[in-house]
Amino acid sequence: MTTIDTARLSVRDVPFSPPNISEEEIAEVVDTLRTDWITTGPKTKKFEEEFARRVDAPAAIAMNSCTAGLHVALATLGIGRGDKVLTTPMTFAASVNVIEHVGATPVLCDVEPDTLNISPKEIERKLTPDVEAIVVVHYAGHPVDLDPIQRLAAAHDVRIVEDAAHALPATYKGKTIGSHGNLTAFSFYATKNITTCEGGMLTGDARCGGVAFTGSTEVARIINRTLAAKDGPIVPLIAETGGLNAL
Ligand SMILES: Cc1ncc(COP(=O)(O)O)c(C=O)c1O
Repeated sequence: MTTIDTARLSVRDVPFSPPNISEEEIAEVVDTLRTDWITTGPKTKKFEEEFARRVDAPAAIAMNSCTAGLHVALATLGIGRGDKVLTTPMTFAASVNVIEHVGATPVLCDVEPDTLNISPKEIERKLTPDVEAIVVVHYAGHPVDLDPIQRLAAAHDVRIVEDAAHALPATYKGKTIGSHGNLTAFSFYATKNITTCEGGMLTGDARCGGVAFTGSTEVARIINRTLAAKDGPIVPLIAETGGLNAL
């Protein structure tokens, strides 16, 4: 057995998730910089299509972060002022911040002692009539126990949004996270399993809150319509007639 001399270890000896970037990725970036499409161009569309195929989701839309994906998911589902949203305290601040960004109230549920994921029993305990959504977090890539949560959500007519920032390419009962019919947000921040430096992806399904989630342009239109119809504290910025600066 190897013995580690802990006295000789310093913080510097533990690298903070250095990115694994090869000449191939560098060439792709350079190639993009030589075109007129340095943001949401043909490569983004290809990435969306390949990503949706990889996680077995009906559609995917590239976002400028996972935070933006979560925010857009809640806004698209019409969550806002007067609504409560259940989520977990074992997460990054974004999972809770986005609930406040749409004007709703976060309600924290305790976690399972072994996985540190949100506890279905706690969800059941806190499911009051004003709860409209549950943001589950697949903490450290360990999938949340989705089955009982999906059953509770269906029984109470509550939407689920999955924070899959850590969960590419995790699976739950043999199915990829992103394929369970909920709006699901992934992160491509520098320390994540794949990175675009900053960035994210929102995957979805046509059954999510009756939203037709059929591809970037279509979704952007729906998001804008949803936001235009709301008076919540959302900053109107981009795409078409105004909306969220998330793409
Ligand atoms: C659980 C969780 N959710 C959301 C985020 C936000 O991701 P992003 O930095 O892409 O907005 C993070 C970031 O680390 C995270 O850990």
